[in-house]
Amino acid sequence: MQIIKTIKDLRPVINKYRINKKSIGFVPTMGALHPAHLSLIKASKKECECTVVSIYVNPIQFNDKEDFDSYPRNFNADAQIARDAGVDILFMPGDEEIYPKDSSTFVEISGHVTNALCGISRPGHFRGVVTVVCKLFNIVQPDKAYFGMKDAQQGIIISKMVNDLNSPIDIRLMPTVREEDGLAYSSRNENLIDEERKKAVIIYQALCHAKKRIMDDKESDAMKVTGEMYEMISKTEGTEIDYISIVSLPKLEDVKKIKDQVMIAMAVFIGETRLIDNIILNVAKK
Ligand code: PAF
Repeated sequence: MQIIKTIKDLRPVINKYRINKKSIGFVPTMGALHPAHLSLIKASKKECECTVVSIYVNPIQFNDKEDFDSYPRNFNADAQIARDAGVDILFMPGDEEIYPKDSSTFVEISGHVTNALCGISRPGHFRGVVTVVCKLFNIVQPDKAYFGMKDAQQGIIISKMVNDLNSPIDIRLMPTVREEDGLAYSSRNENLIDEERKKAVIIYQALCHAKKRIMDDKESDAMKVTGEMYEMISKTEGTEIDYISIVSLPKLEDVKKIKDQVMIAMAVFIGETRLIDNIILNVAKK
């Protein structure tokens, strides 16, 4: 595995793959690599001839400095994990590579998809995500790029960006990977102390409860289902709900009556750590 830190060093390596007509798969990450990242790397390795992983904790997608400072950083351990997973190129740029002093261009997607769900409590977050992903796409020039469905809104927004900007990159949204008790893998889980980690399972339990109410009991009133989820989570001490919403896909519009395909999405603070999760249900199919 080659570890590359600058765009200048990465370009000729990427060009070599392109000249030899090798397909390039790209997994952008902020590090603290875990099994969900590994599933993206595995998918890329299966579908592409070269897999590039980037690790860059993007400052402009954090709307809270404390959140940025406390984001887990394990760069040496990450390099070993990436090597063991068979990654071909690990790109680890510094801030000066991604945001040189005179840089003043941002990518922004207007409209409801960025203003809904996490867009409400994290203003500017998706502008930061889309800007860095667009830059990384221009640097790596992948054929396919892999994102996890735990961050479904992010995946939808990036797919829209690629479509709106006529980019040829195939965005591959991969299933959420969960720990044994159902908690979705996230780099932020590292910030949970033992007691919080135990409590965090309530997020998945609330999603499973919603699934049962909708699919088995045929409950179609979205307010009723989210109300029950609120109640379940609020009973767990040390939790604070940011939002629980049932929305349409891919427009992310609030749904009153549950039918066809919906996403149940939530953001919950467990102590100081904000975790997100979702499930997608296809009511028409069962
Ligand atoms: O999902 C993430 O880890 C980040 O938002 C991403 C896509 C790497 C952009 O910084």
